[in-house]
Amino acid sequence: MLIRPRRNRAGHAVRALVRETQLSAHDFILPLFVQEGEDSHTPITSMPGQARLGIKRLVAKAEEAAALGVQGVALFPALDESKKDARATESTNADGLLQRAVRALKAALPEMLVITDVALDPYSSDGHDGLVVGDQIVNDETLPILAGMAVSQAQAGADMVAPSDMMDGRVQALRTALDEAGFENVGIISYCTKYASSFYGPFREALDSAPRAGDKKTYQMDPANVRECEREVRLDEAEGADMLMVKPGLPYLDIVRLVRGLTPLPVAAYHVSGEYAMLHAAAERGWLDYDACLLESLLALKRAGADVIFTYGAIDAASLLKRA
Ligand code: PBG
Repeated sequence: MLIRPRRNRAGHAVRALVRETQLSAHDFILPLFVQEGEDSHTPITSMPGQARLGIKRLVAKAEEAAALGVQGVALFPALDESKKDARATESTNADGLLQRAVRALKAALPEMLVITDVALDPYSSDGHDGLVVGDQIVNDETLPILAGMAVSQAQAGADMVAPSDMMDGRVQALRTALDEAGFENVGIISYCTKYASSFYGPFREALDSAPRAGDKKTYQMDPANVRECEREVRLDEAEGADMLMVKPGLPYLDIVRLVRGLTPLPVAAYHVSGEYAMLHAAAERGWLDYDACLLESLLALKRAGADVIFTYGAIDAASLLKRA
């Protein structure tokens, strides 16, 4: 035999020399759930290790992440039902839960990238990402609500806003509103190809944000489709997005790879709640090694082309990388 691929795998040193993909804590964004009650802590049953946190604990969690090299957090507010209404009014309250959380985080950790989610669902009594009129999720009437939300988040100090609602034209609506309000340096990370996935189940439990009626298939993408990714990418680029996201992650590696090839913009992948839950569920039964499978999942996302990875396992992965 002239050719033996195993020679390049023979030992630690040669493997490290030829390794094509390196994971680093700098790749990760940690999603965090915030709730009222400074010191409150409500574990999320279907996401072991994750909890809805009061602002004080939220800041402590972000500090823990920062100490391990994680440079960004993505915030999701868990609102009391009494604060929700059809038009997501609470989303623009300058003294709302999310706005207070952003201010507290930026005060404690000025260097930490604070990314806020733009969509109606955490604030909506209908649990949809857009405005519900009759049995329709109406697009154009949703845009000013999203724009107002983004400006309010920027005023609180968000570094980047992340529209996850999948309304048409939202990136342009946000860019225009942010610029008009003087926030031309606030970035937009667009959930560009976000699929109508069943892997979001634990997240909706965490926020109690599941749609009260119907599903999200009239705005999120059909898991069967690939070609419409190119339209979404072209639109978001033209509308001024700074980064493009693919979501979910691991079941959509083909999409990560495709979007990577379609755009020069940085690509993010979201290792979603259901993916995280699966790892823990199997590990609890002794069927999988959580640590090893987490790192392998994140490595696979990066290898497929993700520059940025949103993962609930950011702290776990960062501390594993530090020990390795
Ligand atoms: C909603 C939103 C969802 C997630 C992030 N933003 C859920 C949904 O679209 O129903 C899912 C994240 C996850 O599952 O980890 N705007």
